[in-house]
Amino acid sequence: MKLLHVVGARPNFMKAAPVIAAGRRGGLNQVLVHTGQHYDAAMSEAFFEDLGLPTPDENLDVGSGSHAEQTARIMSAFEPALDRHGPDWVLVYGDVNSTVACALVAAKKGVRVAHVEAGLRSRDRTMPEEINRIVTDQLADLCFTPSRDGDANLLAEGVPAGRIRFVGNVMVDTLLALRESARARRMPEALGVADGTYAFVTLHRPSNVDDPARLDELLRALEDLGRTMPVLFAVHPRTKERIGQFGLSAPNGSVRLLDPLGYLETVSLLDRATLVLTDSGGLQEETTVLGVPCLTARSSTERPVTIVEGTNQLVESTRAAVGRAVAEVLAARALGRYRPSRPERWDGRAGERIVVELLATGAGRTTEGTTT
Ligand code: UD1
Repeated sequence: MKLLHVVGARPNFMKAAPVIAAGRRGGLNQVLVHTGQHYDAAMSEAFFEDLGLPTPDENLDVGSGSHAEQTARIMSAFEPALDRHGPDWVLVYGDVNSTVACALVAAKKGVRVAHVEAGLRSRDRTMPEEINRIVTDQLADLCFTPSRDGDANLLAEGVPAGRIRFVGNVMVDTLLALRESARARRMPEALGVADGTYAFVTLHRPSNVDDPARLDELLRALEDLGRTMPVLFAVHPRTKERIGQFGLSAPNGSVRLLDPLGYLETVSLLDRATLVLTDSGGLQEETTVLGVPCLTARSSTERPVTIVEGTNQLVESTRAAVGRAVAEVLAARALGRYRPSRPERWDGRAGERIVVELLATGAGRTTEGTTT
């Protein structure tokens, strides 16, 4: 059986790595296609090294653009690559533009699509990722869900139960496999902060960084936070660009602006942080497993299990709300409220389950209808 894995943007890499590794152990024929949605060394290459990913067989070099342009470019470039490799399955990951673009191409060519991290819903269609999730799940022949809420969301949207497989969280496979290597990086020490005394911050969602007033509120919130503890802010290229474009002043005081970090560097900093402030999807999950308090600057999350069972809480993207939430977190932390948590099947074996399910479903084309 031949698998074609599609990766394109930073959050895809750590999800594909454990599935590719499990496929290799299972002796499967595998092809890796990188769409080039993310192309900076810090957003892409660094992850291939950290995660031990194979060199892509194809790099489509699509780069940035509007959603329509980027999605269209990925589709046009992916079609001949798909023809060249003729896989039995196309595996797409997460919710980025590369995910939906390649799912659409494969589905129309009658090549089976498997969606890894299926079923997540924020119920906020202003998020480009939510549109990508809904469309990809409708096209997929197999939907691999990370949590049971994913199964319920898919069933509610009419996805047949026979297409849904609850396999657990592939991000957690990677986190558990690489946690010790990440610790060995000793990033807090390298940046001159003591373990358990600093905040780690990432912000890149359009809803937070594309609106000048909102971005300014968040930058001022970081300045306030910097009066309580050192703040390490890993700045996404989009965020950096917007700060410059809007003419906003970078937060001063003890807020340190860092270039985007690799995977091991990020986990090293997450692991020893007092708290995390983010709008990322993956960080909500990683902080839950590591037992680190996480403030998510969004009005909704597609990962409710990190709130119900984990260390995550939503916070409004304003200076005042972030200030209040930080004070609450510090008080709760002093009472020992935050503990590492492993929701069901976040056990490091999700990649293996995916390969087992693919082998059980078998090779062949969607038109044969065995999965519908
Ligand atoms: C994308 C994903 C988002 C994910 C995020 C992680 C979609 C719709 N969004 O958002 O879900 O959380 O990746 O990073 O797919 N840029 C660079 N270098 C790069 C990549 C981007 O400078 O390597 C800059 C460009 O100015 C680009 C902007 O960042 O226009 C946005 O990049 P894009 O890939 O469109 O979306 P992200 O915001 O990264």
